[in-house]
Amino acid sequence: MTLISQIGDFLGQEVELKGWAYNFRSSGKIFFLQLRDGSGRVQVVYSAAVLSEDQWNALQQLRIESSVTVRGTVKKDERSPSGFELDGFVFTLIQLAQEDYPISKKEHGPDFLLDHRHLWLRSERQWAVQRVRNTIINSTYTYFHEQGFMKFDTPILTPTSCEGTTELFEMDYFRNEDVQTKAYLAQSGQLYVEAGIMSFGRCFDFGPVFRAEKSKTRRHLTEFWMMDAEAAFVEHEGNMQIQEELICRIVQDVLKKNVYELRVLERDTEALRKVVAPFVHLTHQDAIKQLRDLGSDITDRDDLGADDETLLTQQYDRPIFLEKYPVEVKAFYMKRDPEHADRVLNNDVLAPEGYGEIIGGSQREDDLDTLLERMSQHHLALEPLEWYLDLRRYGSVPHSGFGYGLERIVAWICGLHHVREAIPFPRMINRLTP
Ligand code: 4AD
Ligand code: MG
Repeated sequence: MTLISQIGDFLGQEVELKGWAYNFRSSGKIFFLQLRDGSGRVQVVYSAAVLSEDQWNALQQLRIESSVTVRGTVKKDERSPSGFELDGFVFTLIQLAQEDYPISKKEHGPDFLLDHRHLWLRSERQWAVQRVRNTIINSTYTYFHEQGFMKFDTPILTPTSCEGTTELFEMDYFRNEDVQTKAYLAQSGQLYVEAGIMSFGRCFDFGPVFRAEKSKTRRHLTEFWMMDAEAAFVEHEGNMQIQEELICRIVQDVLKKNVYELRVLERDTEALRKVVAPFVHLTHQDAIKQLRDLGSDITDRDDLGADDETLLTQQYDRPIFLEKYPVEVKAFYMKRDPEHADRVLNNDVLAPEGYGEIIGGSQREDDLDTLLERMSQHHLALEPLEWYLDLRRYGSVPHSGFGYGLERIVAWICGLHHVREAIPFPRMINRLTP
């Protein structure tokens, strides 16, 4: 058996392919089958004169998404998506699909498609998105391994919140000396990755995280994949440099490895080619000034809303580092800017073309007393975070890190309107199935 992605190596030779009937049409004694096998799509051309009568009759009964085996000779064809075509001489059904394949060429609403997500994933656009996602994941692993970061797996069941308590999923299961203790689904593995780097120097995790987001927006999922990276002895500027290199690497890899997928998605690749270092740097203060000039009613110490981010990213064609937010809108673990005590040494990365925040990161507070003070300002209980405080008691060092939301990056690079298409099975406040 040969994969469609490899048939270029078999020009003029006979191959056997196995896959699904994506589409077909027939004109008299010629039958055109669009075959997909997961690795790609190719047209198989059959002529009644070549096939046995049984096989020709089987073709006449064919239905969309039936599983099939074909044999044929590989020919060059400039118009075909793979650059090749097959002159078919054997056709065998594996399973004849039922008549009522729910997804057709006609327009379906988003709810219908999401209800049939298990089948929708076979459509070429959805296939392309998940292939790009796969490249982004691989590219992330490769970049970090090249840079000496170790993969460090963090727990999903946790006794505390990382990013504040408003979006926590709670459960009652664990007992401590027969007293029920609440557990929460992780919002980010960051705090644990901080423990990791005190042993391994540079670490990253990559896994599902959970946020009980009440907002229904095109940027929010309740379950999404986050990558958290952390590095010892790296400060604010160095932290941003790592983020810049990672994002550039991801975009370059997708441009190289997903040429066909980006074409299927009709993605403007010129916009992606402009994603090169150096990215734009703006302080929160500069951004507010600029936003007000652009007509936003944002005030000095506000966090940016989605509309503000969109507006700002439309002013530049590269990603933006948005730095030094007011201390009161950010998490307890962020280190304060020594030059402006009311600001933190943090940065978000905003993706261009209106996409907005894809990364949140900061230098971490490494001084025990300052951290205790910050925790009390945030009304955080000390006991469940004693282990985290130990990291400041025993060999504390300057360190920094960041986290990216995989679906936000996929949505941006693929040019999607909504993050729900960026993950195989999206979970949102109003969607738990399939
Ligand atoms: O900015 P956030 O909340 O940062 C953290 O959780 C840090 N602990 C990360 C770190 O420093 N290691 O989330 C990080 C990223 C956001 O920039 C965004 O891309 C994504 O996670 N994100 C979401 N993606 C989809 N749906 C949601 N509800 C998201 N919330 C955050
Ligand atoms: Mg954030």
